[in-house]
Amino acid sequence: MICNYLSQLLALHLIFCAMGKASIVQGARNHEKKVSILLKEEPENPKCFVEGRNDFTCFWEEDEELSGSLDQYSFTYTYQEENSSRCPLKMLPAADGKRLFFCHLERPQMFIQMGIEVHREGRLIHNRSLLIELLFLLDPPANVTVSRTGKPGQFNVSWVPPPLKYMDDSMIYEVSYTEADSQVGQVESVQASSELILRGLQQGRMYKMRVRVKLDGISYNGYWSAWSDPVFMETLPAELDLLIMSLTLIISFISLCCLSPCSCPIEGLSSRRFGRLFQLLTASSKAFSVFMEGTFRSG
Ligand SMILES: *[C@@H]1O[C@H](CO)[C@@H](O)[C@H](O)[C@H]1NC(C)=O
Ligand SMILES: *[C@@H]1O[C@H](CO)[C@@H](O)[C@H](O)[C@H]1NC(C)=O
Ligand SMILES: *[C@@H]1O[C@H](CO)[C@@H](O)[C@H](O)[C@H]1NC(C)=O
Ligand SMILES: *[C@@H]1O[C@H](CO)[C@@H](O)[C@H](O)[C@H]1NC(C)=O
Repeated sequence: MICNYLSQLLALHLIFCAMGKASIVQGARNHEKKVSILLKEEPENPKCFVEGRNDFTCFWEEDEELSGSLDQYSFTYTYQEENSSRCPLKMLPAADGKRLFFCHLERPQMFIQMGIEVHREGRLIHNRSLLIELLFLLDPPANVTVSRTGKPGQFNVSWVPPPLKYMDDSMIYEVSYTEADSQVGQVESVQASSELILRGLQQGRMYKMRVRVKLDGISYNGYWSAWSDPVFMETLPAELDLLIMSLTLIISFISLCCLSPCSCPIEGLSSRRFGRLFQLLTASSKAFSVFMEGTFRSG
């Protein structure tokens, strides 16, 4: 069963491109997600998408029982006034007794109308007219990283944009964050940046965060990518924040005294003593935060 599934994934991936071995399975999963996104989101047939400037994929689905053999079908495309060309088709079995028919082109032309016709034994079964630059469907953002900012109820979420040269500025993102035991999440939008500071989070709670990407619709447009894999992180509990805040306060108070003893509100302490006290406090607060980091990372 699993073997069957994997071989389907791999076959799907081989239709698109050859990659390094390590990324084949990940690449195949990404392609499979794209197919299922479009089956849900795109009512027209064939469903088409681009992942970069140099590829173009269309597919449609048929019931296995009603579909014919591959040589009965033809896929032709036409740019405006030009003569039409054929795109070779491949067929793949899919779940629930379905079949998928794929056409994959390299170097499609953007910013020019493309007409598509699919015939089965000479009869037109699908036709569409489209602009390829409006059909981007990217991989989800990679390496989503969450860290605490040091302020209560805040996270720094950052990620690596999909590798599309010169298009970073055209990407928009959605960051979804949800308390781990809750169903209702919230979503924040980010434009042309690959990080977001989340504020006003509940203290001492575990959060689940995910990111997705889309082209912004100015020159290029498309569909929302799949969500990235979720990242979980816990906000500091309120008591701990208080503790850290008071430690910080004490330290800044003391360093103020060290820097300018005249302005120190406590009299009678030599600056040398302050220096020693300062070192001691810095060391202990460092040890403390290392200890807390450890506790929360393992917890
Ligand atoms: C288009 O096809 C016609 C007839 O098949 C041919 O005469 C013409 O040269 C072709 N045009 C182009 C741009 O290929
Ligand atoms: C699809 O084909 C029909 C019938 O030939 C035609 O009327 C229609 O304009 C075509 N649509 C597109 C988008 O090409
Ligand atoms: C993501 O992180 C991994 C491991 O930290 C690293 O090897 C990889 O290069 C990173 N990917 C990107 C696109 O930065
Ligand atoms: C957020 O994290 C990223 C990467 O971890 C870092 O480059 C960036 O400076 C951080 N931003 C803030 C405001 O802390």
